[in-house]
Amino acid sequence: MSSVVVVTGSAGLIGSESVRHFAGLGMDVVGIDNDMRGYFFGADGSTKWNLDRLKKEVGDRYTHHDIDIRDRSALLGLFEKLGRNVGLVIHCAAQPSHDWAAREPFTDFDVNAVGTINMLEAVRQHCADAPFIFTSTNKVYGDLPNSLPLIEQETRWELPEDHKWHGGIDETMSIDRSLHSVFGASKVAADVMVQEYGRYFDMPTAVFRGGTLTGPGHSAAELHGFLAYVMRCVMEQRVYRIYGYKGKMVRDAIHSHDLVTAFEAFYRAPRVAGVYNMGGGRFSNCSHIEAFTIASEITGLEARTEYVEENRVGDHQWWISGLGRFQQDYPDWKLTYDVPAILREMYEANQDVWKA
Ligand SMILES: NC(=O)c1ccc[n+]([C@@H]2O[C@H](COP(=O)([O-])OP(=O)(O)OC[C@H]3O[C@@H](n4cnc5c(N)ncnc54)[C@H](O)[C@@H]3O)[C@@H](O)[C@H]2O)c1
Repeated sequence: MSSVVVVTGSAGLIGSESVRHFAGLGMDVVGIDNDMRGYFFGADGSTKWNLDRLKKEVGDRYTHHDIDIRDRSALLGLFEKLGRNVGLVIHCAAQPSHDWAAREPFTDFDVNAVGTINMLEAVRQHCADAPFIFTSTNKVYGDLPNSLPLIEQETRWELPEDHKWHGGIDETMSIDRSLHSVFGASKVAADVMVQEYGRYFDMPTAVFRGGTLTGPGHSAAELHGFLAYVMRCVMEQRVYRIYGYKGKMVRDAIHSHDLVTAFEAFYRAPRVAGVYNMGGGRFSNCSHIEAFTIASEITGLEARTEYVEENRVGDHQWWISGLGRFQQDYPDWKLTYDVPAILREMYEANQDVWKA
């Protein structure tokens, strides 16, 4: 068995969890991250703190490369060196915010779409048998989820119980003919290309279309990292701006640990061109209002929020991932964290960092 795992975005939330997890299984991990999150979101967003922590924790099993995934020749050179020792590739490096993408569409597309084909082609040329995991997003469905017949409840929007997607939206929803945001469109390009390298070149690729991905490794910034930013605002007594939908928009949240165990399941039994919606599902979801209530209960502090009437362009009013397809392919995989557990862990992990 080849024992090297390549992780892009290795200092980010999902990348760092992947590094720890697979190093813990005894594999050597090669990480790629140039701290571009600091460029996207400013000092709050920088992942340098997480990289420093990772290097200390993982030690010799981890090798870091400060490569920009837009740098095609640097990537090809690295994969040429690693060759068939690579047994798994987890591609998480991205510009992850739909609000930010409109500021610099070229940068967004170059990182998300071109960076992904750079990775795919480097893998195809040098280690085509290695399972290739791509973190896509539910934004590939654009704003189509907003056309569902939602009903208003006291603290959240909800689908009628007899609706086919009450348990979660599955992969049969169209990714076509809707408003995606510039970010959503660049992720669609990458998502479809990852599938194509699976089908056309018969490579074991998988697309995980994430809902809200979260965990204590998130560098919480206003433009990205919903639950971490909720907890940070409550703990630091910052004002959190809620955009539209009466604050009742629903997201499902999956802890980075639970996502990475899903990656492991795919790694152990890969398929060609897998496509999976992946999130907390019915097990772990909340509206913005509910998230603040839970965060206040945990911290004993009141949340300071400001309501902005206009919602974010293309923002989902209700999203819960349908996990049926993944659970059918990988029946042993299970979610272990729900929203209160996720928020409690963030509170405990950041007591010395996020102070009022
Ligand atoms: N967090 C979420 O809620 C969420 C939801 C759905 C999908 N996703 C997707 O999951 C993936 C991982 O998300 P995350 O929350 O861990 O993001 P993150 O921002 O925490 O991590 C991404 C990392 O990639 C690095 N990076 C960015 N551009 C780079 C470049 N050009 N070259 C090298 N490194 C670069 C950043 O510095 C950062 O450390 C992304 O593809 C994102 O679009 C995230």
